[in-house]
Amino acid sequence: MRLPSRCNRLLLAVVLLSAVVESAPAYPAVIAAVAATSVRSPQPVPISQSPQFVSDADFTAAILNSTNHFRHQHNASAVTYNATLDQFATAYLDANRDCTFAHSGGPYGENIALGCSDVQGCVDAWGNERAKYDFDHPDFVEDTGHFTQLVWRNTTAVGCGRKLCGEKGWFLVCEYFPRGNVLGAFGDAVGRQVDGFMSAGSESVLRPSMMWLVLWLAVALVLFW
Ligand SMILES: *[C@@H]1O[C@H](CO)[C@@H](O)[C@H](O)[C@H]1NC(C)=O
Ligand SMILES: *[C@@H]1O[C@H](CO)[C@@H](O)[C@H](O)[C@H]1NC(C)=O
Ligand SMILES: *[C@@H]1O[C@H](CO)[C@@H](O)[C@H](O)[C@H]1NC(C)=O
Ligand SMILES: *[C@@H]1O[C@H](CO)[C@@H](O)[C@H](O)[C@H]1NC(C)=O
Repeated sequence: MRLPSRCNRLLLAVVLLSAVVESAPAYPAVIAAVAATSVRSPQPVPISQSPQFVSDADFTAAILNSTNHFRHQHNASAVTYNATLDQFATAYLDANRDCTFAHSGGPYGENIALGCSDVQGCVDAWGNERAKYDFDHPDFVEDTGHFTQLVWRNTTAVGCGRKLCGEKGWFLVCEYFPRGNVLGAFGDAVGRQVDGFMSAGSESVLRPSMMWLVLWLAVALVLFW
């Protein structure tokens, strides 16, 4: 077998290195924007046909599963699904005819997201903000406002609405009661992560280790092949 020329080896290394860049953790691509509790993806995305958006039953199940998944990991009790909150979010989206990406200004805690591929993706984006939360200085920070509302101890109920906004994709609005992000209460209300380190981190733990493997392969190729 003919060994690749030095030039081909370099080319291979470059290809492997670009694979590393592309496998960087996915969640920073969803950026938190505006006051407190909104997430939107930076570019137009293919419109999702996910059952989590299309089917009422799958929608509710995905909201509860993903929300309580993060709440459990932060030692907060599970929330129940509340029709009043669902109706409030749905009415807000109905009234918001041009899909303006903004908060309702209602009486509940509220997280909003636009353009996620499915419900779990939206809630994961909110929950994954915990990586940026300073548990040693618990307080409100815009970048982590979705996360702190999501796992807020005092919150007992959630209800959400969603609406397809043309090319912008699905607009998800979740209401929480009692509302979280109460100034002065963050220390008591936002628990540290106590469970689920392996599964929760699968995105951010597995990917970097893959990254290192590919990096070492690239280095080995250049040095020894
Ligand atoms: C529940 O949510 C977690 C985190 O979002 C996810 O890993 C898990 O697969 C979900 N389970 C179901 C049954 O959808
Ligand atoms: C979880 O919260 C309860 C109080 O609701 C507390 O007694 C318990 O010690 C907490 N668990 C951990 C692991 O922090
Ligand atoms: C639903 O949430 C509302 C808050 O607006 C509350 O008054 C009501 O008791 C809740 N219903 C249930 C069944 O939890
Ligand atoms: C918890 O909820 C009650 C209303 O049920 C509210 O009066 C209180 O301020 C809340 N506390 C925190 C820390 O959110």
